[in-house]
Amino acid sequence: MNPPNKYLITSALPYANGPLHIGHLAGAYLSADAFVRYLRLSGKDVAYICGSDEHGAAITIRAMKEGTTPQEIVDRYHEQIRDAFEGIGISFDIYHRTSAPIHHETSQDFFRTLYENGSFTEQETDQFFDVEANQFLADRYIVGTCPKCGYEEAYGDQCENCGSTLSPTELINPTSTISGNTPVIRKTKHWYLPLEKHEDWLRSFILDGSLDGEPHHYVDEWKKHVVGQCKSWLDAGLQPRAITRDLNWGVDVPPEIEGAEGKKLYVWMDAPIGYVSATKQWAADHGKNWEDYWKDPETALVHFIGKDNIVFHCLIFPAILREYGEFNLPINVPANQFVNLEGKKVSTSKGWAVWIHEYLQDFPDRQDELRYYGYKIMPEQRDSDFTWKGYQEAVNNELVNNLANFIHRVLVLTNKYYDGVVPEFDESISINAPQESGLPTWHDSELLDLFDRLHELRTYLKAYDFRNGLKTLMEVSSVGNQILQLNEPWKREKTDPDSVKVVINLGLQYVTALSVVSRIFLPFTSDKLRDMLGLSRIREEGEFVDIMDALSEGKHLLPSGHQINKSEHLFTRVADEDIEKQILKLENSDSSDDHEEGLNGTVETKPEATFDDFSKLDLRTGTIISAEKVKKADKLLKLTVDLGFERRTVVSGIAESYKPDNLIGQDIVLVANLAPRKIRGVESQGMILLAEDEKGNLGFVSPPKGWSKGDVVR
Ligand code: MF3
Ligand code: ZN
Repeated sequence: MNPPNKYLITSALPYANGPLHIGHLAGAYLSADAFVRYLRLSGKDVAYICGSDEHGAAITIRAMKEGTTPQEIVDRYHEQIRDAFEGIGISFDIYHRTSAPIHHETSQDFFRTLYENGSFTEQETDQFFDVEANQFLADRYIVGTCPKCGYEEAYGDQCENCGSTLSPTELINPTSTISGNTPVIRKTKHWYLPLEKHEDWLRSFILDGSLDGEPHHYVDEWKKHVVGQCKSWLDAGLQPRAITRDLNWGVDVPPEIEGAEGKKLYVWMDAPIGYVSATKQWAADHGKNWEDYWKDPETALVHFIGKDNIVFHCLIFPAILREYGEFNLPINVPANQFVNLEGKKVSTSKGWAVWIHEYLQDFPDRQDELRYYGYKIMPEQRDSDFTWKGYQEAVNNELVNNLANFIHRVLVLTNKYYDGVVPEFDESISINAPQESGLPTWHDSELLDLFDRLHELRTYLKAYDFRNGLKTLMEVSSVGNQILQLNEPWKREKTDPDSVKVVINLGLQYVTALSVVSRIFLPFTSDKLRDMLGLSRIREEGEFVDIMDALSEGKHLLPSGHQINKSEHLFTRVADEDIEKQILKLENSDSSDDHEEGLNGTVETKPEATFDDFSKLDLRTGTIISAEKVKKADKLLKLTVDLGFERRTVVSGIAESYKPDNLIGQDIVLVANLAPRKIRGVESQGMILLAEDEKGNLGFVSPPKGWSKGDVVR
């Protein structure tokens, strides 16, 4: 496991069925972009691959809704998405598409090779067929009455009213959404990938980071939620997965294979192969050998994705690659969780989103502001929330007040005192140092502190910890600001001009370092900064290494005598009215309220939690054995709960609904592994489950009569 010299980095291929939004961006693109820029700045050989996912039901259904063809849909959105990525500065080496001939060829080659290997099994199943349209119907093409709740427009795979998972044959009165006719049942044969045969090696790959008994990657470097999700799949036992469909949009099963007629590859079979076909195209365009990036064991493969794509990238695609042979498997799959918007799940169909192409129109020169906030709220370990207020505060309090302010002061003073010429640095003069640098004054060692912080930044990036990386970048600027604040050059210029030279020179070293490392998160800012400093723009060719080498040798980054340019404001304040406009726009485009008032009384639930999220909770049955009021708190009661195996003290907000005496003997369900919390001086060791009605009345959720204490609830 030597440090890799080459990297193949991928971001999930977005479906070309709608515009790019903030959920996409903060999920699989900003993270990868920072990582890739960091690698290039470190002198690594990187190919950063992405493209549009143009197959699957997402596309054909959109086309049907809009009364157009799938081709028209993918052509429109492919371009729009590509331009939005470019506008916001995602630095793909190629943005390809899965409708390209080279992709069809590559996917067919995979299918053929695996087929000839005997990697597939075949299975015949019953499926609905639309006689008039002369085609089999994918689950989403069938609507009918839900057998569970009676909702009349349930889909073949799911009822959106009651949330049940269905199979198409369960629907009452099934109809084809294509012709409106009642479909008939026909037998159909498909190819399957027998994942269960891969369970053993996948288990050691995911859980031990080993392959064929050799170490492959460090499991500790993988995110817990990624490993956790794979583990629950493995523990549940892997099942054969159908990898073909009866469709007329997609990659054809190679025609020479018996029974291929009318069959397409399942979208999740062809889409990840899109990474390979895009790499082939990129290599052909740039005189490279694509195999160096996929098959050289010294090359590291990293997939950036959202959490809904984890099993495909960690289990299924690796199984496909391994069956093919010679391909590298990912050394990491740093999946992010989801970003919500103003507390609600982002939804393309409901129009609840911040669309990147619209943002770029509304704020044409604020690309880095959105990027900054995206990194700040990146859902690395858990879901997070984008709010327009939060965006405004991040820009105004952090980018304007800290970063832009520091840089502006240094450059303005350089121009004012020295006509823009970098002043001498006299090593014999000491200046005041910020306290946390641990140095009483800065003399000789002033650049060491900068080196240490940049080193910390590097450490965070290596660990895919972009939030902390961004924080560290901002700390460099904060320290720069403190140097100015502690030494007040604007006051001392008259009385102590020699020490002011040292302060300004040092400030300029900080600004120069920022012009390099800001490129990781804020590439537009880096360019502006380089222009103001009179330096050539960063090309991402090892410049981070260059400045670290210089600093470690005590060399300055910007030499005395260098001429800088005028300072322009890097960031300006976002006004309240800009934000109000965005919030209004969001509210007007939101159609989910209509939903809420709809006949079926659909209510918005909280954003999706994975099974994994849920299974972290330890719920237990118990009985309340004592109850008393908490002093000076009208709503709170202090309860003792008997769990059978132990007793817990719990503070609960039920005093307005229950008298203490009436509670003794009440059976309850307790969240038994909630982190303890001090409430009014009492440590609460768990939480009792309560139902609340519209009026705020509370009632206990209790186990069936006669259950013992301490039983598991799940
Ligand atoms: N289009 C899929 C989605 O948006 C992602 C495909 S990723 C790939 O969820 F690996 F299949 F390319
Ligand atoms: Zn239902």
